[in-house]
Amino acid sequence: MKVIKVQTEKPYEVLVARGFLGQVGRLICTKIDPCRVCIVTDDNVSKLYGAQVENALKDAGYDPCTYVFPHGEASKNMQTLAELLSCLADHHLSRSDLIVALGGGVTGDIAGFAASIYMRGIRYVQLPTTLLAAVDASVGGKTAIDLPQGKNLVGAFWQPSMVLCDADTLLTLPPEQVSCGLAEAIKYGVLWDRALFDQLAAGGYELEEVIARCVELKAGIVQQDERDTGKRQMLNLGHTVGHAIEQCSGLSVLHGQAVAIGTAVVASAAEKLGLAKQGTCAEILQAYHKLGLADKCGIEAEKLAEVALNDKKRLGGEITLVIPRAVGDCVLYKLKAEMLEGFIRIGLE
Ligand SMILES: NC(=O)c1ccc[n+]([C@@H]2O[C@H](COP(=O)([O-])OP(=O)(O)OC[C@H]3O[C@@H](n4cnc5c(N)ncnc54)[C@H](O)[C@@H]3O)[C@@H](O)[C@H]2O)c1
Ligand SMILES: [Zn+2]
Repeated sequence: MKVIKVQTEKPYEVLVARGFLGQVGRLICTKIDPCRVCIVTDDNVSKLYGAQVENALKDAGYDPCTYVFPHGEASKNMQTLAELLSCLADHHLSRSDLIVALGGGVTGDIAGFAASIYMRGIRYVQLPTTLLAAVDASVGGKTAIDLPQGKNLVGAFWQPSMVLCDADTLLTLPPEQVSCGLAEAIKYGVLWDRALFDQLAAGGYELEEVIARCVELKAGIVQQDERDTGKRQMLNLGHTVGHAIEQCSGLSVLHGQAVAIGTAVVASAAEKLGLAKQGTCAEILQAYHKLGLADKCGIEAEKLAEVALNDKKRLGGEITLVIPRAVGDCVLYKLKAEMLEGFIRIGLE
């Protein structure tokens, strides 16, 4: 078992191993005494792992109930949140009780946000079951729901008490979901770790190792900038354009897929403008192709820029992008808002 410590204001551990889902109750018990638990999960994950987690919690002395919502980003909204909060109240969860988020990033984001506001904040544990959630969403304490106006517009910083990642649960993921997680894993490689990037690009990797390395890298930046006012913005590599792609596609382009295209656009523009080492973009594209990720979306620069500028990341008349100077070496790059469309156009060419 790999254990990564996240030294945030309220520190916690991320445990990565294989085949421990049936023992999560016992593991949670090492930090949190038996109490009422609401397992939050979507319909897909509930069928696959719901009973196993419920039994594991009962075996360790917890009193679990379950809230199940329809899978997909479209559920990450105010209505699901309201239903979940009512469910917590109906089951008489108190301030000393617990939420267990069993699922992908959508589940983790909603469950974590509910935990942050229910009774002014209760504890929650993340059990990520997608690669994207394992390497990214489950760690770092960003929780949120979407509004019709945009993604993640309502949320809170609220760190989990533990993250327990059973890599065996990823075996049931559809291949396109694995690719999405790999896009986020490649992001860490492009940002800070040439060796991780090369390993992923070559296809010869052990998922458990990759997850642990990505979590280590994410923990490293989160603990320096828990509230995302500085360095943590680096994690937005590919996300400014990526979020715009997700939104312009009516959410039909998956998050990780959109991030890959967003990164490709930024890398391409950076190289053409002489901001990145020659060959950087080709290297990144090659890795994406190897891992089954597309690098084009067919959406126009004008539309993408318009949506991106509505994004919360815009500060005054400027937008901050993350630019790869080379694989493993990225910088924050401030761009005047009116220059973004041109920048994206160059990247798309
Ligand atoms: N909080 C953060 O820091 C952070 C970071 C990155 C992404 N996110 C958010 O995460 C979300 C995307 O996460 P996601 O890609 O995990 O989406 P998701 O939670 O919708 O999961 C993707 C799909 O996989 C299914 N699934 C989950 N686990 C499975 C398993 N083990 N076997 C089979 N099917 C399974 C789900 O039912 C769903 O249909 C977005 O909303 C994004 O904004 C948050
Ligand atoms: Zn992401």
